[in-house]
Amino acid sequence: MAALAEGDMAVCQVDGVELLICQVRGSYYAVSNRCSHSGQTLSGGKLRGHTISCPLHGARFDVRTGECLAAPATRPIKSFPVTLERGKVLVTIDDGNG
Ligand code: FES
Repeated sequence: MAALAEGDMAVCQVDGVELLICQVRGSYYAVSNRCSHSGQTLSGGKLRGHTISCPLHGARFDVRTGECLAAPATRPIKSFPVTLERGKVLVTIDDGNG
């Protein structure tokens, strides 16, 4: 995938997993695009710093770790390791937890 601007997000599919890729302060992060509360896509939410908010009921997650930061969600979202290689964003999907 091509580079993103600061604070931008992009959705992509990798091995059947819908990912939300975020760029914050020069670093890239990849998390599941589905909220752990009721499955809303997070790509319609707002990214502020490292926090993505769900557009449906307002749960918040840390895109660095997937940690749930605010109700009504109580569970984290899956996060995936990201590396940059020659300007490309590479995401590692592990089998079994995606
Ligand atoms: S679906 Fe995301 S907070 Fe409810």
